[in-house]
Amino acid sequence: PGALNLLIIIPILHCCNTIDFNRLCDIGEFLCDDHVTCVSQNWLCDGEPNCPDDSDESLDTCPEEIEFKCPLNHMTCIGTNRCIHLSQLCNGVYDCSDGYDEGVHCRELLPKCQRMNCQYKCSISRNGTSCYCEDGYEVGDDGRNCNDLDECNVYGTCSQTCINTDGSYACSCVEGYVLQPDNRSCKAKNEPSDRPPVLLIASSETIEVLYLNGSKVPTPNSVKGNGINTLDFIYNKDTICWIESKESSSQLKCTKISKSWRLTDEWIINIAQYLHNVQQMAIDWLTGNFYFVDHVSDRIFVCNHNGTVCITLIDLDLQNPKAIAVDPTSGKLFFTDYGNVAKIERCDMDGMNRTRIVESKIEQPTAVAVDLVNKYVYWIDIYLDYIEVVDYQGRNRHTVIQGRQVSIYLMIQDPRPPPYL
Ligand SMILES: *[C@@H]1O[C@H](CO)[C@@H](O)[C@H](O)[C@H]1NC(C)=O
Ligand SMILES: *[C@@H]1O[C@H](CO)[C@@H](O)[C@H](O)[C@H]1NC(C)=O
Ligand SMILES: *[C@@H]1O[C@H](CO)[C@@H](O)[C@H](O)[C@H]1NC(C)=O
Ligand SMILES: *[C@@H]1O[C@H](CO)[C@@H](O)[C@H](O)[C@H]1NC(C)=O
Ligand SMILES: *[C@@H]1O[C@H](CO)[C@@H](O)[C@H](O)[C@H]1NC(C)=O
Repeated sequence: PGALNLLIIIPILHCCNTIDFNRLCDIGEFLCDDHVTCVSQNWLCDGEPNCPDDSDESLDTCPEEIEFKCPLNHMTCIGTNRCIHLSQLCNGVYDCSDGYDEGVHCRELLPKCQRMNCQYKCSISRNGTSCYCEDGYEVGDDGRNCNDLDECNVYGTCSQTCINTDGSYACSCVEGYVLQPDNRSCKAKNEPSDRPPVLLIASSETIEVLYLNGSKVPTPNSVKGNGINTLDFIYNKDTICWIESKESSSQLKCTKISKSWRLTDEWIINIAQYLHNVQQMAIDWLTGNFYFVDHVSDRIFVCNHNGTVCITLIDLDLQNPKAIAVDPTSGKLFFTDYGNVAKIERCDMDGMNRTRIVESKIEQPTAVAVDLVNKYVYWIDIYLDYIEVVDYQGRNRHTVIQGRQVSIYLMIQDPRPPPYL
């Protein structure tokens, strides 16, 4: 238990005949234009070049409509996605291609800078002067003094655990992950190394087991399904379960996945409920309970591990529920709904304490996944075409991806997150 290292893809819509696996980079990574360097997709368009050729920040990579923000102590060269450090202003070198960072203002504004009495340093730009601080510090309310910056409060600082220190911070990874050379990303350990992580991909007819490079794991047997429409994994039991819906009947089926990724021993769990309108399901791997979203009767119900007892958890104020995800380690359930009001909600796993965590700038949320380590909720909105993320309280909202690609994106959950998108 816990040693399995696999990812699950839940197909959304009529998705995906083609999946763009590039050979070089792992899932969640971006191949720089140099065709050799891979950087985490989380660092795309963050204003900080990670590719040697800056292609992670180029206008080709970052469509202009994405709000572009430079990191602390940097400013944008007008009309580009290039950020320069404030110390590069008026340093006698043209750092912006149009020379915006240099000019007569450098000399004219110097006395004003001196009068500002900055604790650290003063920057001069064409429209004025301001104090800035050493890396790891930010300018206080007085505009002059420097205070410690809590980097851990900034989304994306570390991919897992973050510890703030005076003037700096340190990232670390939870068990089963190793810190990468960038000192902030975590990657799942390959243990045992002869058993690399795999992806489970469900289509209507079958469940495929693929390596992360896209090639099929040679498995002697496979699932022969008929109308597979949702899939989840029970981590501590090495079991995959899915729902098959034919014209008149629907069944919940499970299979063991062996150490060599063979799918063995298929069985049926008789659920004392009509599953025909269930398009998404989540399994609480601690109790073995199944959570189902019925988009016709507009309710969320839960059944015990053998299907003998089912209860409706939520049916009020639910018009078009779609996606569901659970965090059994925190006892939380997350689901999306888009009836009169599109929203993402959180509740306890017994349906109590229902809380809306997202209800603005959301139209048609169709998939959710949770990052169990950092306690983040990711979701896809196929109408507004984005993947966004918030913490469990609905704060710290960020856009992960925006634009035309989103409608074909899958939601992938790593059993020991962070989720890869
Ligand atoms: C200077 O002007 C630019 C563009 O007009 C603006 O984005 C920036 O915030 C201004 N900076 C200061 C320090 O006022
Ligand atoms: C990561 O940390 C190590 C050890 O502290 C250091 O030597 C290395 O330069 C750091 N790498 C980066 C990319 O910051
Ligand atoms: C894909 O990865 C697996 C496992 O790491 C390896 O055995 C296989 O040869 C790779 N296939 C290709 C086409 O690179
Ligand atoms: C189902 O599980 C319950 C315990 O959760 C048990 O009491 C019951 O006998 C089981 N029923 C079947 C048919 O296996
Ligand atoms: C709601 O959650 C709080 C803590 O998050 C807990 O103390 C309280 O008992 C919960 N209320 C119900 C009705 O479960």
